[in-house]
Amino acid sequence: MDDAEIEIGPVNLAARVDEALAVQAVAFGLDAGEVAVRRHIVLRHLLCPGARAYGATTPDGRLVGFVYGMPNDRAHWWSTVVETYLRATGTADWLDDSFVITELHVHPDFQGRGVGRALITTITDTAAEPRSILSAIDTESPARGLYRALGYVDLARQVHFPSAPRPYAVMGAPLPLRRRN
Ligand SMILES: CC(C)(COP(=O)(O)OP(=O)(O)OC[C@H]1O[C@@H](n2cnc3c(N)ncnc32)[C@H](O)[C@@H]1OP(=O)(O)O)[C@@H](O)C(=O)NCCC(=O)NCCS
Repeated sequence: MDDAEIEIGPVNLAARVDEALAVQAVAFGLDAGEVAVRRHIVLRHLLCPGARAYGATTPDGRLVGFVYGMPNDRAHWWSTVVETYLRATGTADWLDDSFVITELHVHPDFQGRGVGRALITTITDTAAEPRSILSAIDTESPARGLYRALGYVDLARQVHFPSAPRPYAVMGAPLPLRRRN
């Protein structure tokens, strides 16, 4: 399939949560129990003020990637966890006026074609906030490579979320995200 045929656009993620989690399960590695937990979390997130989602869809309507996020709210669980770490590195001000990328996943069969880059730049281009933050597993993954290429820098590393087995890095970038030269 020609890459140009994959369409990036707003998606009703609440209606398509099972499709999205099927993509995340294979891209990120989630078992059935984790999918069930995530399902509740995603549906709750989508009710937050300013939450929005974009999808990558094939011509026959298959969802092969998605991103969602929202303006950061210091009262949210994610923000309260990372705040301790950002305070320690003197970067806690990033929690204000910041658009959070909550999830970004592309099905492995469609990775490496610019879909992830298109999803995250499209959603952040809609943000009124001057910057964006996110967390990613603290390892040299394609995700970390993509985020750096877009201008995200490490704000804190070895961030431990209760119940997550692996530490995360928290990253932040000015908006609009850096484009390829
Ligand atoms: C991270 C992810 C969404 C990227 O999606 P993608 O469609 O493959 O990414 P793109 O094709 O748009 O790649 C864009 C950039 O990412 C980086 N990148 C992609 N694959 C990479 C790899 N294997 N190693 C290093 N950097 C890589 C490059 O900087 C690339 O830049 P380029 O466009 O100049 O080549 C995808 O790999 C994924 O779903 N991974 C598993 C789930 C995950 O980790 N999600 C993020 C959770 S924080």
